[in-house]
Amino acid sequence: MKKISIIEGKLSKKCLPEYLSVEATAPAREFHKTLPEYRKTPLANLKNLAKELGVKGIYVKDESKRFGLNAFKALGGSYAISKIAENEDDPSKAVYVTATDGNHGRGVAWAAMKLGARAEIFMPVGSMECRAEAIRSIGDSKVEITDMNYDDAVRFAADYAKKNGYHFVQDTGSEDYEEIPNYITQGYSTMAFEAAKQLESLGVEKPSHLFLQAGVGSMAGGVLGFFAHYYKKNPPITTVCEPWQVACIYESIKSGNDGPTNVGGFPKTIMAGLNCGEPNPFTWPVLRDFASFAAKCGDDVTRIGMKTLAHPLGDDPAVVSGESGAVGLGLLYILCTDPAYAEYKNLLGIDENSEILIFSTEGDTDPEGYKEIVNGEEA
Ligand SMILES: Cc1ncc(COP(=O)(O)O)c(C=O)c1O
Repeated sequence: MKKISIIEGKLSKKCLPEYLSVEATAPAREFHKTLPEYRKTPLANLKNLAKELGVKGIYVKDESKRFGLNAFKALGGSYAISKIAENEDDPSKAVYVTATDGNHGRGVAWAAMKLGARAEIFMPVGSMECRAEAIRSIGDSKVEITDMNYDDAVRFAADYAKKNGYHFVQDTGSEDYEEIPNYITQGYSTMAFEAAKQLESLGVEKPSHLFLQAGVGSMAGGVLGFFAHYYKKNPPITTVCEPWQVACIYESIKSGNDGPTNVGGFPKTIMAGLNCGEPNPFTWPVLRDFASFAAKCGDDVTRIGMKTLAHPLGDDPAVVSGESGAVGLGLLYILCTDPAYAEYKNLLGIDENSEILIFSTEGDTDPEGYKEIVNGEEA
C-alpha cells in the first residue's frame, strides 16, 4: 500500500481575498510580459493517459519551461522585486535576501541580477548542493546552506535582512510581513491565468478537478484563490497535496481551527520544495475555505508521478517533472489504477467526465536524482 491519506475540507467559501481577483492580479501579468524571457509555458494535453485512467482530460502545465529557470517560482520573486525597485533611487545598489529550498532563491537571484543587484540566499539543512550551485551561478549571489529547518531559516533570513538594511523577499508571510508575500502570490496567478486561457482554446470551459501541491501554501492558495474568482460560480474540486511527513495544510484542515497548525522538527522528503511546516497566514484562509480536499502522500507517490510524466503513452508529450512537481499526477494515477484506493477516487468524484488540471511546478532541479527515479525500478 502507498502512504496516502485524504480528508475533506470545510468548503465554507467564506474568505476570498480581493488581491487575488482577476483585476488585482492583472499588473503582475503585465509585468511578466515585459520580461524578455517571458513565454506562456506549455499545457500538455495527455489524451492517452486520460483514456488509460478513464477520465475525460488530463492537462499538465509544464513550469519547467518558465524563464529558462526550471520552475514556476520566479513568477513571484520577480514581480515582488519589481515592486520594491519602484521605490529605490538606484535598485542596483539594493541587496535582496531570502530563505529557500532552491526554486524561490533562484528566482530572487535572477530578478536581482536583472537589476544589477546582489542577492543573499539561505537554504535549510539537507539542501542539495546542486540546487545551491544553480543559484550561485546566477549573477552576484551568495548562497549558504544552514543547519536550520526551512521555517527557522526564514526567520533567520528576516533578522539578517533587517540588521543589514537589506530587502527581505520571502514567499511566505508573518504577522508584520504581508505586502511582499502577497505580491509573490499574485505573481503565481500568471500561470493560472495562462492555464485557464489554454484550456479555453482546447474547448475546456473549466477544469472539473485541480491538484495543487503545497509547501507553505502560497502557490496553492494563490492559484486556488485566483480560480475561485475566475470560475466564480463553480470553482474546480481542488485537492491540496503535501508530503506525508510535513503536511501543514492537511494538519491545519484536520484541526478544524480557523488558524493554521504548524509542523515542526526536521522532516525528510524528496519533495524539497514542499518541505515547509508553517502555512503562509495570508493564503491559508483561502485553502481553509476553498480546498475541497487535503491529501498527504509518501514519496513513492511523487516518484510514480515523475515516471508517468517522463514516459508518456503513445503521442502524449513528455513532461520533465521534478520531485515537488509531480505529486498531484502521482496521486491521480494511483487513485485511478489501484482498486485499493477506489473509495478515495469516489470521494473526489473522479469519473469519465472529469477534466483535470495539474501544475508541474518544476523540472529536473536535482538532475541526478531525477534520472535515477525516472529510469529506476523502484516506485
Ligand atoms: C517546485 C515547487 N512546487 C511547489 C512549491 C510550493 O509552493 P509553496 O511553498 O508556495 O506552497 C515549491 C516551493 O518552493 C516548489 O519549489
